[in-house]
Amino acid sequence: MNGIASTAAVTSGRFSRIAGTGGHLPGRRLTNAELADQLALRGVETSDDWIVERTGIRARHFAADGEQCSDLAVAAARRALDAADCDVASIDLIIVATSTPDMVFPSTACIVQQKLGIAGCAAFDMQAVCSGFVYALTVADSMIRSGAANKALVIGAEVFSRLLDFDDRGTCVLFGDGAGAVVLQASDSPGLIASELHADGRYVDILCTPGSVAGGLIRGDPTLKMDGQAVFKLAVGVLEEVARSVLVKAGRNEADIDWLIPHQANIRIMQSTARKLKLSMDKVIVTVADHGNTSAASIPLALDVAVRDRRIARGDTVMLEGVGGGFTWGAVLLDY
Ligand code: UT7
Repeated sequence: MNGIASTAAVTSGRFSRIAGTGGHLPGRRLTNAELADQLALRGVETSDDWIVERTGIRARHFAADGEQCSDLAVAAARRALDAADCDVASIDLIIVATSTPDMVFPSTACIVQQKLGIAGCAAFDMQAVCSGFVYALTVADSMIRSGAANKALVIGAEVFSRLLDFDDRGTCVLFGDGAGAVVLQASDSPGLIASELHADGRYVDILCTPGSVAGGLIRGDPTLKMDGQAVFKLAVGVLEEVARSVLVKAGRNEADIDWLIPHQANIRIMQSTARKLKLSMDKVIVTVADHGNTSAASIPLALDVAVRDRRIARGDTVMLEGVGGGFTWGAVLLDY
């Protein structure tokens, strides 16, 4: 399969490197039992046992009514800036990966820029659903390596709770809200080693929110629809394939991976990917139990958790893997 790849296995030149990470979860935490009680009031039957057994999810966070995607993004960005010891004024690129923007337009990235009190640098959103962060990181890396940017804020932020149909137990128990961010800056050494992005629009319908705004009204259904089994099957196949392909581009192999951070949708997909790559689950960062599926935010949130609890240390080799609506998928291999 053809892919877009960043330069791989180059030993000198201009590269990008993660200088700091940040994450933010909204305050309202809902356990499976609490969600099941709320759903029961609507006549929708589910249980903690079913959700844990089929997905590994135990709780998720939901944003408060007035809390926007940009609010979560800014909180995560500020933590990443602090961790990178980076003055916000030096940021010259902002990319927000999201499918739940504050507005139809302008982009959430421009709203984040305004809330951070900076102006003038490039700012745009990346829409690749749950693969959004891997897409955004690859684009930021390309812009830094080309000299178009020096220091980027790359953010994944979502309020998926706003898209959920709470009468559909097959989807409403899966998702949560949150944001993760990194400061990505120019460096003499990698950093990002190799990446690859893919999409297959033949699968638009298996995971979508088909509504749109027209004539002042919502046209079509604005809630999330998913054929879970079809997504599951595709996900386990492409996650193995793209990881292997990126390793080949980087001139490395599975044994070189210190940490795998797959999109946090379902523990069974992560276990299957780890098994196929012959990696112990001890090397897989798992946050799905506490976060649920936060779409584009899931990978940077998991990265931030593992950096802050000191599992991921400077110099470790980390594979990030995204997969989601579109159908989209991709992977980034980096030395942290
Ligand atoms: O972020 C983008 C990527 N997304 C994903 O990777 C999601 C991929 N898909 C999945 O993770 C899984 O397919 C799900 C977790 C969504 C569903 O798990 P499954 O093992 O594929 O279950 P299923 O859809 O085959 O449903 C099995 C049964 C059905 O009942 P019957 O027909 O066997 O009587 C469902 O009605 O489980 C039932 N069910 C539930 N029962 C209790 C579905 N949802 C629930 C629920 N609580 N919440």
